[in-house]
Amino acid sequence: MSAHNRIEVIHGVNLDQLGRRNPEHYGGLDFDQLEYRISEWADELGLKVRFFQTNHEGALVEHLHKLEGLADAIIINPGAWTHYAWALRDALELAALPAVEVHLSDVDAREEFRRVSVIRELCFATISGQGPDGYREALDRCKSHLEATT
Ligand code: DQA
Repeated sequence: MSAHNRIEVIHGVNLDQLGRRNPEHYGGLDFDQLEYRISEWADELGLKVRFFQTNHEGALVEHLHKLEGLADAIIINPGAWTHYAWALRDALELAALPAVEVHLSDVDAREEFRRVSVIRELCFATISGQGPDGYREALDRCKSHLEATT
């Protein structure tokens, strides 16, 4: 029987450039360091993580199409696509997996356009404004959710 511990960590547009973005919003880690942290936290929690990042919306949509049977939950930070990419919303719905939305910055305390999230209603939790630590909380939430539902 599967352990129900496979978490797909998905990053969207511009997050690969984290080390060049404003540390006041996004914290001091570059993208490789962020993924490394996430994998350490996952190990501590007994979760298996896979990572995917793209700057191409269609690639993300197709990645979500192919996830069936490969993951038990999704942690997703779509970057700016969060605020307008309805095709991403529909692809996340098709993936039909429990999902947590994460933002490094506090999207509700920034520009008006960042307050809209097209994926929020599909996610069982949203974590924003905690910097990299938000991913630790997201992993925790996935673990509890999977333990309670599988
Ligand atoms: C972000 C917030 C988005 O508004 C922004 O476009 C990003 C990153 C975050 O992690 O805080 O690229 O998703």
